[in-house]
Amino acid sequence: MEKSAIITGASKRIGRAIAEYLAEEEWNVVVHFNESEKPAEELVIKLKSKFPNQTFGSIKSNLSNEKEVEMLIPNLVSEFGSFQLLVNNASVFKPGYLKETSSKLFNNQLNVNLKAPFILMRDFANRCGKGNIINIVDTRISKNISGFAAYSLSKKGLWELSKMAALEFAPKIRVNAIAPGVSLQPEERDENYLEKLAEGIPMKKPGGILPIIQSIGYILENDHLTGQLLFADGGENLGKND
Ligand SMILES: NC(=O)c1ccc[n+]([C@@H]2O[C@H](COP(=O)([O-])OP(=O)(O)OC[C@H]3O[C@@H](n4cnc5c(N)ncnc54)[C@H](OP(=O)(O)O)[C@@H]3O)[C@@H](O)[C@H]2O)c1
Repeated sequence: MEKSAIITGASKRIGRAIAEYLAEEEWNVVVHFNESEKPAEELVIKLKSKFPNQTFGSIKSNLSNEKEVEMLIPNLVSEFGSFQLLVNNASVFKPGYLKETSSKLFNNQLNVNLKAPFILMRDFANRCGKGNIINIVDTRISKNISGFAAYSLSKKGLWELSKMAALEFAPKIRVNAIAPGVSLQPEERDENYLEKLAEGIPMKKPGGILPIIQSIGYILENDHLTGQLLFADGGENLGKND
């Protein structure tokens, strides 16, 4: 069976690690990017030289622009052919309590983190018809802390959307989600930031990227699994033991 995947926001960080993992697992991979064109191109060059018998490419789309999102899957299919895996990884992560959240911030968070995945899932189902969708959410969906109000709401919505799509798209398409916790520090922070955050979670250490990658592998290998959420978060969703 052909194995071709698109990962949104895959030029750097967690998305890039997912792309590299899938390439190791003999997938053809399309790296989606918006601003990070150079890292996306460098990743494609690296993957092509490491796995010469597979196909790799990149595609640009601003996921806050509805017109560009609507064209992403059609353009992808006409350029690379049908594919069997969509990973909705791209995300905007901006702080703001409810009282501080402007309509602009709200729209940007919801457009990139929820509306774009909705359109991509719909178009994947209509144009590709079978395979897997994996949505990257966040352990914050298990809480009501509003410090990242619009972000948290977008990820809560994405999890609800995952279940809805799992029901509608079965049995041809499985839809599952992964909820990372303390994984990778924001680009402007150092590792101490994560170590400090991790003191408050049951497993007492940052998870890094590996639990997310292992969750991807687990979902792909289990062909009876759909509508499920894997918390790859060191137990953070369980709350505090005090
Ligand atoms: N890092 C963590 O510890 C952590 C914890 C919990 C959950 N997560 C989730 O895991 C996923 C990956 O996390 P991450 O930290 O690696 O993500 P990230 O670096 O914050 O963002 C990933 C990519 O999203 C893309 N993106 C942002 N706005 C976009 C737009 N308007 N159009 C298209 N692409 C856009 C960017 O692509 P370009 O650079 O090409 O613009 C960016 O490289 C996210 O869904 C995040 O919510 C992460």
